[in-house]
Amino acid sequence: MRVCVIGTGYVGLVTGVCLAHIGHHVICIDNNEEKVKLMKSGQSPIYEPGLSELMQSSAASGNLEFSTDLEAGVKHGEILFIAVGTPALPTGESDTRYVEAVARGIGAHLNGGYKVIVNKSTVPIGSGDWVRMIVLDGVAERQKNLVAAGGGISTLERIEAEFDVVSNPEFLREGSAVYDTFNPDRIVLGSNNPKAIEMMKELYAPLVERQFSEDPSLPPVPVVVTDLSSAEMIKYAANAFLATKISFINEVANICDRVGADVTQVAKGIGLDSRIGSKFLSAGIGWGGSCFPKDVSALVHTAEDYGYETELLNAAINVNKRQRTIAIEKLQQELKILKGKTVGLLGLTFKPDTDDMRDAPALTMIEQLNRLGAKVKAYDPIVSQSGLSHGLSGVIIESDPERLADGCDALVVVTEWQEFLRLDYGKMAKTMREPVLIDGRNFLDPAVVTAAGFRYLGIGR
Ligand code: NAD
Ligand code: UGA
Repeated sequence: MRVCVIGTGYVGLVTGVCLAHIGHHVICIDNNEEKVKLMKSGQSPIYEPGLSELMQSSAASGNLEFSTDLEAGVKHGEILFIAVGTPALPTGESDTRYVEAVARGIGAHLNGGYKVIVNKSTVPIGSGDWVRMIVLDGVAERQKNLVAAGGGISTLERIEAEFDVVSNPEFLREGSAVYDTFNPDRIVLGSNNPKAIEMMKELYAPLVERQFSEDPSLPPVPVVVTDLSSAEMIKYAANAFLATKISFINEVANICDRVGADVTQVAKGIGLDSRIGSKFLSAGIGWGGSCFPKDVSALVHTAEDYGYETELLNAAINVNKRQRTIAIEKLQQELKILKGKTVGLLGLTFKPDTDDMRDAPALTMIEQLNRLGAKVKAYDPIVSQSGLSHGLSGVIIESDPERLADGCDALVVVTEWQEFLRLDYGKMAKTMREPVLIDGRNFLDPAVVTAAGFRYLGIGR
């Protein structure tokens, strides 16, 4: 099928590349010229395992193109994905201005043939109808301009009949985005028109049939067909549930710390109950990233718009805020005064296997440590090697973990990068002023690190 993906970030680029890989002809559009230039040269602007290789092979097969030309993309696609960012506004609501610009742009370039416009971006509930309205505004503006210029055009009614909006929320995780796309737990399609749903089912058929799955013998991927608002709500409810689950285990961890229990054993013990499930029960320094914080806030905001106070979600947010300070409390417990001390952060990105620093717990930690008068150094496999500081301030980026440890009063594991399991902790402890290690992800084996000479403190263990 002919597909256009507008917005080539973590979601848009992965979606475009994977759809091209399974045999569709995809044009990826972005209004960032630098990014498009980079992608045309075969390079991925983001770090996502396996993405560059797929991008290059799909481009070589002729199935994948990149452009800044929205008109060309709209003309090409039978299915048009909107995959631009929807960051949080200071009020907590979702900033939909990029979606609006794209929807208007699509309207300005619709060319008659039936199109499915897909909201892949996470958008507030009700956005399906809103996008439809904005697209029609774009159509009307074009109509007005053409009439003013004296050109003949198709009527608004005819154009209106030629597209439908589908909500197709994305559930991929950064760091395993390509894997998640080929191995989804489910595909959610929300629309009022069966014709649009049929086209989406045809698009995803190779994935549903597990042709690109790690285990092709698994039953087909469930496709959940809903109305527009329910599909939009599924996305927010899924992220809010997962964030609440993490806040729950973090609260349990804090109680474990006080009563002397080990949260990793507790998580195992409760996770084996199939009603609870073992995933997303890793206690730590709180959830971050580009989605959980903004999506939970947006859902709270939507509920407020309807006069409903979200007590459980507010609690999940508050637990998370407090959890972001847990490592600092433990540092104070061990080092007492932090002023004049040097703290080394192992990891900066909000989770491993990504270069994404959006709303990373490390940022909160750097700010707090700076405020308390500590010097902060950090080593992160991606940030240190890319040579880019990601606009980070108040932190010295070291090129390797041993240089990081040198002269530190404490180390904090902020991101659970695999390579941190293989470090020479014995050597590192010897070069530190105080061999203190706060494991903000309960990632390391306390026995190993203690044997290497560290005073080890986990979260709730
Ligand atoms: P991103 O910020 O990484 O990428 C957005 C891209 O859109 C950028 O490349 C930007 O240049 C481009 N863009 C902005 N305005 C444009 C315009 N008018 N025309 C063309 N391109 C434009 O965003 P992301 O992380 O990929 O997230 C996109 C959406 O998907 C968000 O709504 C997010 O909540 C949702 N989502 C993200 C993830 C994730 O893991 N990042 C997962 C599921 C859902
Ligand atoms: C999350 C969801 O998992 C995806 O399904 C969703 O598509 C995406 O948000 C989105 O909407 O953007 P992502 O943010 O990439 O994906 O990463 P997660 O693996 O969910 O981790 C989010 C945060 O929770 C990270 O800071 C991570 O360290 C933290 N986390 C996760 C924990 O503290 N404990 C856990 O057990 C799991």
